[in-house]
Amino acid sequence: MSDLDQLKGDLLAAIDSADLARLEDIRVSALGKSGSVTGLLKTLGGMSPEERQTTGPRIHALREAVTEALTGRKAGLEREALDARLAGETLDITLPVDVPAAGTVHPVSQVMDELAEIFADLGFAVATGPEIEDDWHNFTALNIPESHPARAMHDTFYFPDEPDGERKMLLRTHTSPVQIRTMVNQQPPIRIIAPGRTYRSDSDATHTPMFHQVEGLVIDKGITLGHLKWTLETFLKAYFERDDIVLRLRPSYFPFTEPSAEVDVGYTIQNGKRVIGGSDHWMEVLGSGMVHPKVIAACGLDPDEWQGFAFGCGIDRLAMLKYGMDDLRAFFDGDIRWLKHYGFAALDVPTLSGGVGA
Ligand code: DAH
Repeated sequence: MSDLDQLKGDLLAAIDSADLARLEDIRVSALGKSGSVTGLLKTLGGMSPEERQTTGPRIHALREAVTEALTGRKAGLEREALDARLAGETLDITLPVDVPAAGTVHPVSQVMDELAEIFADLGFAVATGPEIEDDWHNFTALNIPESHPARAMHDTFYFPDEPDGERKMLLRTHTSPVQIRTMVNQQPPIRIIAPGRTYRSDSDATHTPMFHQVEGLVIDKGITLGHLKWTLETFLKAYFERDDIVLRLRPSYFPFTEPSAEVDVGYTIQNGKRVIGGSDHWMEVLGSGMVHPKVIAACGLDPDEWQGFAFGCGIDRLAMLKYGMDDLRAFFDGDIRWLKHYGFAALDVPTLSGGVGA
């Protein structure tokens, strides 16, 4: 074997087993200014033309082979290093997160979840309806005809008239239109609650233009005021998590119920604070009654066959009573400090067994 072949064999073997640092040493020792291969290239100048013709290509080939081996080995080592780093940095995204959730659940959402939980236990489904309603669902079908004074009392936000002048559109003033939509679309027996946003042109410490209500509706055979009272009592006891809840039903008037009753809940004053329970003082919490036969008929059902009760209740007020806020406007200011103080942990789902108040 010639010296050249020997040198080539040695260099390629050294390159093959070198790490990155060693590779640079080999490059310098072979191809650097005073490297072995560079030295051979320099000898070309002193050769006879014949000798140069035979040896020249071999020296050039040696340089090329060494250069190529160096580049190849370097790329291979770098790829291996990257693979090892990537393997070391993998993240198992299926592992549970250790960081506490940053946001909180708004008290209104919390109370809606509590209501759904309480009423699901009584066999009620949750129904929804559009916030942009027509006046038939919001008023007419609820036995509030056009000339009825109740329309004026609702401070309704109306949309501009449609070109065909047929259906007047508005922002629903209460969740009662969901009663209509449910009776039109579903065969009785019906047991639903319908929580959601409602709108009236009204604004002070206890009224905001957008607020929340929950509607309840039961349609079945042989339903009486007794069923209504028991349901409301069971609901309020579960909601306030107290057995000493006392209700008072006062005769009242709503166009869509007959008879109608406003429901007061008893409270006592303890250390200057209002505490629900007992019967020292009374506070109105909801409106209710037996569904008016005209409303049942407007939905295409026979009022001689089907009866029911309904109730409507302000959710924001329920939240204020249970969790002790006193200014309704703060509910919708989006103030992060208020939300942190009154909000609920993101993953705390209310359950009857765990206490719906979370
Ligand atoms: N819709 C009524 C309101 O917004 C509340 C209400 C009263 C709803 C009696 C009912 C009911 O379903 O039976 O003032």
